[in-house]
Amino acid sequence: VEQLYETRHDAVDSSAAELRRIERDLHDGAQARLVAMGMSLGAIEALVERDPARAKEMIAQARENSAEALTELRDLVRGIHPPVLAERGLGDAAKALALRMAIPVEVDVDLPGRFPEPVESAAYFAVSEVLTNAAKHAGAERVWLDIHHTAADGGMLRIAVTDDGRGGADLAKGSGLAGVERRLGQFDGILALNSPPGGPTMITMEIPCRPTKPA
Ligand SMILES: Nc1ncnc2c1ncn2[C@@H]1O[C@H](COP(=O)(O)OP(=O)(O)O)[C@@H](O)[C@H]1O
Ligand SMILES: [Mg+2]
Repeated sequence: VEQLYETRHDAVDSSAAELRRIERDLHDGAQARLVAMGMSLGAIEALVERDPARAKEMIAQARENSAEALTELRDLVRGIHPPVLAERGLGDAAKALALRMAIPVEVDVDLPGRFPEPVESAAYFAVSEVLTNAAKHAGAERVWLDIHHTAADGGMLRIAVTDDGRGGADLAKGSGLAGVERRLGQFDGILALNSPPGGPTMITMEIPCRPTKPA
């Protein structure tokens, strides 16, 4: 009961935090660009007959602001639920993430199909954090990412990320891994960390779940 109480509390907490982040991003990003665009358009209206050259300059500025607003909205949407995850599922989304990393990531995926959207989202978020850590903190040359699902015991999604870096990863030293642990906890999932000083680092995550659609 204690465990349920805690994970439910975390679920409410982390969705509130996520909402605040989205609100902040919208406010500082797209909203600010659109305000600037509105002001440019107002100035253009006043200038267009009197000073057409200046008006033309301001049109270019307004167009730039609209392009930036669009980019920011796209990035925001991608951060909430990337299109590749929505369209192609966890395996392909993880492969796309791995390709974007600065160090080589060997990916091995064996999944029977799609999983409930919140599970895919949490797993993707976890893979992203752990890969980013390997690139940022480990000084690793290689990373191995293994994602598979077993039907045994009611179904379990297992994600293992290993890097050949310096080790010493510690949940207490940052907020990323602790955030992953909390988010997985919402599905009764767990994160296990093995990272002795000198390396290697191996992070294993398990989420009990069953596929929703066959591949
Ligand atoms: N793969 C890794 N190799 C070595 N150290 C790591 C690795 N991942 C995490 N760490 C260490 O553990 C700390 C906690 O990680 P994390 O919670 O993700 O925090 P951060 O926000 O600093 O990335 C990091 O600050 C870093 O010192
Ligand atoms: Mg981190």
